[in-house]
Formats: sequence, structure tokens, C-alpha cells
Amino acid sequence: MKAILITGGAGFIGSHVVRMFVKKYPRTKIINYDKLTYAGNLSNLKDIENRRNYVFVKGDVCDYKKVMATLKEYGVDGIIHFAAESHVDRSIKDPFAFAKTNVIGTLTLLQAAKEFWGCTLANAAQSEKKHRFYHISTDEVYGSLKFDKRLFKESDRYEPHSPYSASKASSDHFVRAYHDTFGLPVVLTNCSNNYGPYQFPEKLIPLMINNIENNRPLPVYGKGINVRDWLYVEDHARAIDLVFHKGTVGETYNIGGLNEWRNIDIVNLLIKIVDKHLGRKPGTSKKLITYVADRAGHDLRYAIDSSKLRKELGWKPETSFPEGIEKTVAWYLENKEWVENITKGAYKRYYKDMYSNRK
Ligand code: NAD
Ligand code: DAU
Repeated sequence: MKAILITGGAGFIGSHVVRMFVKKYPRTKIINYDKLTYAGNLSNLKDIENRRNYVFVKGDVCDYKKVMATLKEYGVDGIIHFAAESHVDRSIKDPFAFAKTNVIGTLTLLQAAKEFWGCTLANAAQSEKKHRFYHISTDEVYGSLKFDKRLFKESDRYEPHSPYSASKASSDHFVRAYHDTFGLPVVLTNCSNNYGPYQFPEKLIPLMINNIENNRPLPVYGKGINVRDWLYVEDHARAIDLVFHKGTVGETYNIGGLNEWRNIDIVNLLIKIVDKHLGRKPGTSKKLITYVADRAGHDLRYAIDSSKLRKELGWKPETSFPEGIEKTVAWYLENKEWVENITKGAYKRYYKDMYSNRK
């Protein structure tokens, strides 16, 4: 492809994918289109910002004119759409922001792509050869599993519980509607929890690493028994590369790590690794664990069946959890400046607002 627009490329997962595509496809222009909300951070991409095939455009996905102007300026033929409000706890405080960016933003992008590429059902076969609209979604749209062996499958019905997952579910439906009604060549993936460098420390793993290092309370929601399926972010990026280039148009692929952990076990593991790195006596930071009020509507368990992606496109995770979590802790402890820059000011206010009355 000549030019690929990546929305939300200054965020956590988006920045890993931008970096990978800029390096791997030097003859393709990679346009990072991002509003730079609190979660967007251009220092995530310092190492590639001067590459000739990389360009940053500051823009909102809800701004139709700006999106269309960017598609035209660069002759965009592929889109990978990450931009979203992504934190469940924030969605409970301000659902409207999630409906705006995640639903209206996705719809705006779909409409602009359809118009710019001239998609109709009649020319769908030709368009499929030239264009691709890849929507990045989440396993949270499937709802919550019990503590048994069942895994989310692509054919599961949608049952979102949080305003975040409801907004992502809605955006997924719009993406499929644009395929079925206008022949837009779409692919979708629904991934489980990612972890790794550059994740904003509002999410469980980087928040806990930062608090352990700074001897602050470790706020575990409810009893800490909720389960998540963790995947190293670079393995997600490799799956995205595969699906973007080789996935079948109109299809959805689940992505997951087959790596289920209870939150409390993750927190104990992080205590062990961080204490070791800092030369503290093993278990020193256990006393920081603080059980706090549960998240409203807290989904019990997520776990993904990614056998379709594994069988059809030959993907599998390459980073084991012990290796990935060691690398992640080391990265956060070594990149103090990155952490300090984003945990001052607005983050302090966010933290106080979210946690100070959470007894
Ligand atoms: P993030 O919050 O780290 O980054 C989001 C990025 O989107 C930021 O750079 C932000 O500035 C940008 N953005 C927000 N609103 C925008 C707008 N209106 N216009 C343009 N840019 C805007 O998110 P993330 O964790 O990297 O997640 C990226 C995508 O992957 C999201 O769609 C999310 O739903 C999905 N996802 C995340 C995970 C996970 O574990 N983090 C798992 C599965 C799916
Ligand atoms: O499953 C994919 C989803 O994973 C993505 O779609 C979301 O964008 C991403 O934020 C993530 O959602 P979660 O809600 O699962 O992630 P979070 O890191 O916020 O929380 C993980 C678990 O840890 C969850 O059960 C809540 C719990 N938790 C979280 C925080 C921030 C705590 O116990 N304490 C905390 O302080």
C-alpha cells in the first residue's frame, strides 16, 4: 500500500504498531492521526519520528473535514483504527466522552473512507483489492465469563456491561454495517488485555509497578479474584500486521494469550519482581496491598479463543508471560522520565478523584 492512516498511533498499542510498520514497510507512508488526549504521547515514538515514511497529524477522529483532508492529502489506501477512549473506570465517570470518540469517531472515519474510496456494494470486489479498513476492538464486547473453562469465540453474542464496552460494541456494529451496506472492505479483531512498555499508568500493570516503586498503596478492586487474559503488546502488533495484510475481508478474528491470571496474583507477581529489581527484601511491598471498593459492573473473567487466527493465519504469541512481565517491569523502572512526565499534573488529579474515596 502507498499510505496507511493509523488513528490513535500516539497511544499504547497504536505506538507499537506505528513503530513496527514504519520500520517494516519503508516504502509505505505511515500517517499517525491522533488528537493527543491525556493518553496520547508523542514521546512514545521518539525513536522513529524522523523517519522519511512517518508523518504525524494532530486531529480528532470526530472531525470529518480534517479526516477527509488527510485521506486526500496522502492518498490513503489503508486505515488501522485504534483511536478510542480506552479506560473502563473513566467510562463509568463520563460515558458521553466514550460515545463521542468511540461511536461517532468510528462512524466519521467509516463515512470518510467510504466516500474517499467510492465504495459501493457493486464495486466491492475491486475495492477489496485496493483498500482496507481495519477496526481494532476488544474482548470486552462479549461480556463476562464464569470461572469455568469457556473461552470467548467470534460467534458469541455481544453482551457489553460497561459504557466503554458498550461503545466499542456499537462501533463494531457500525463497521460491519458499512461492509454489508456499502461494500467497505473491513476486517476486525477483538483482543484481550495487553501489557508492555508505554502503557498509560491508569491500567492495572503499570499503575501497580509505579505504586510499588514509590511505596504507595496498591488498590485491588473487590476481592482481587477477577480474571484477565494477558498478551504482550508486541504479539498483538504482529497479529495486527498479519490480519491487515492477509485477513479475509468481512471477517473478525479473536486475539488472546491463553494466559489467564487473577488480579491479586498479578499484583503479587509484580511485588516479587519489582522488589527484586530494587534490591528490597522479598515480599517487602506486600504490606501495600489495599482492597478497595469494587468497580461497578466489574466483569468477572475474560478469556479468548484465538484458534481461528492461529489456524487461518498461523499466528501465535512469541513472548512468554514470565519473559514479557520481566521486560515490562525493567522498562518502567528504567524509563523514570517517561513515567514522571505523565504522572504529574492531570494524572495526580485523576488519581485522587478515582481512588481517594474508594473505601
Ligand atoms: P490508549 O488509551 O493508550 O490510546 C488511545 C489513543 O487514541 C491516544 O493516543 C489518544 O490520544 C487517541 N485518541 C483518543 N481520542 C481520540 C480522538 N477523538 N481522535 C483522535 N485520537 C484520539 O489506548 P490503547 O490501550 O492503546 O488501545 C488502543 C485501541 O485498542 C482501543 O481502540 C482499545 O479499545 C483497543 N484495545 C485495547 C486493549 C488494551 O489492553 N489496552 C485490548 C484490546 C483492544
Ligand atoms: O480486555 C481488553 C481490555 O483490557 C481493553 O479493551 C481495555 O482498553 C483495557 O483497559 C483493559 O480493560 P480492563 O478493565 O480489563 O483493564 P484494567 O487494567 O483497567 O484492569 C484490569 C483488572 O484489574 C480489572 O479486573 C480491574 C482491576 N484493577 C484495575 C485497576 C486500574 C484493580 O484491581 N485495581 C486498579 O487500580
